[in-house]
Amino acid sequence: MSTVAKTPRPISAAAPAGTFDVENVRRDFPILHQKVHGKPLVYLDNAATTQKPLPVIEAIENYYRRDNSNIHRGVHALSERATEHYEKVRTAAQRFLNAADSKEIIFVRGTTEAINLVAQTYGREHVGSGDEVLITAMEHHSNIVPWQMLCEEKGAKLRVAPINDQGELLLDEFERLLGPKTRIAAVSHLSNALGTINPVREMVRMAHARGIPVLVDGAQAAPRLTVDVQELDVDFYAISGHKMYAPTGIGVLYGKAKLLEAMPPYQGGGDMIASVSFDKTVYNRLPYKFEAGTPNIADTIGLGAAIEYLEKLGLEQVERHEHDLLAYATREVAAIPGVSVIGTAKHKAGGLSFTMDGIHPHDIGTILDREGVAVRTGHHCAQPVMQRFGIPATVRASFGLYNTRGEVDALIAGIHKVVEVLG
Ligand SMILES: Cc1ncc(COP(=O)(O)O)c(C=O)c1O
Repeated sequence: MSTVAKTPRPISAAAPAGTFDVENVRRDFPILHQKVHGKPLVYLDNAATTQKPLPVIEAIENYYRRDNSNIHRGVHALSERATEHYEKVRTAAQRFLNAADSKEIIFVRGTTEAINLVAQTYGREHVGSGDEVLITAMEHHSNIVPWQMLCEEKGAKLRVAPINDQGELLLDEFERLLGPKTRIAAVSHLSNALGTINPVREMVRMAHARGIPVLVDGAQAAPRLTVDVQELDVDFYAISGHKMYAPTGIGVLYGKAKLLEAMPPYQGGGDMIASVSFDKTVYNRLPYKFEAGTPNIADTIGLGAAIEYLEKLGLEQVERHEHDLLAYATREVAAIPGVSVIGTAKHKAGGLSFTMDGIHPHDIGTILDREGVAVRTGHHCAQPVMQRFGIPATVRASFGLYNTRGEVDALIAGIHKVVEVLG
């Protein structure tokens, strides 16, 4: 893969270190201030989706109150305003991921659509019979199934790099599996089921040394780790707005311009064309070639507000805050008799998965809910991870920037209640 001249990350608009005030932050999230089953809500299902701060809610409301119009084609004031707001978010997403150019930012519905886009365009052009696609054993279904479908269609083989008992990728196995037939590697930055942070920079270096491009699933990383796509040198990076305090239905596919330029379009329709006749259609330039039809304008504007919100708080501070919560929760939960933490990698972020001897995760989740504590139970759309650990499901408590140590204490108290009732 070629190396491009890298744009240095712009000076962060973040608040100075040490000024993160979680109680202040919580005031921005109206949904948090409610009772569930008579108990204060403790929302620990952030890996599934995050709550939305007032600036995001207001940006969407303002858009519908003042600017709602279709974009790119109108000459009237509302359309021009909507277009300007929409395209400003592209620049914000470029800044957030430190992409070299705003045309490398493609708006999609979320990580799932981003990965399907790459599989169905780049993948279909480059993966043929007998070729291989390499993923890891800790992928979310959305970074397994699109590649499986492609491999089935093309007669290619899906290879899977294994993980150890801590839930860490076996890096030398990953490198060994990058063979002469590998056409693309698709890996998660941060596992939603285990919390493992993968050494993406190193993995990209290994793949590029063999001329293999890398797609990174950044769904869980983008809300809590500083992501610099140029520094990581990734070829594709996929994120979901709703996991980073923005609305559902909007996400970003970052792709290196050189690759995107050469790829065929994903869907056909309005906006992705330069000209159409019954004989021939000429496709639009980047990024519009990949954005067919009227896009999700309002939620894109919501995404812009979420990016600005995160930038204002400072991702470094969010990362530090969540790291503290995760370390505290891990220490306390692991100390409860009968609890096993699933995923004990050295480098972790986001969430804590665990099981309890003789108690089904679903029952744990139900009792925690009665205590006001919202966690996720199940396979977390990562059934192969569950198979690897020989369990049907886990309980997952995942943290967001608004969670507190007091809420971790509520989780611990809830787990003690589970022991009392079912243990
Ligand atoms: C690691 C990971 N990848 C991909 C996805 C899919 O994201 P979405 O459903 O927003 O497309 C998720 C969602 O849970 C995830 O955690």
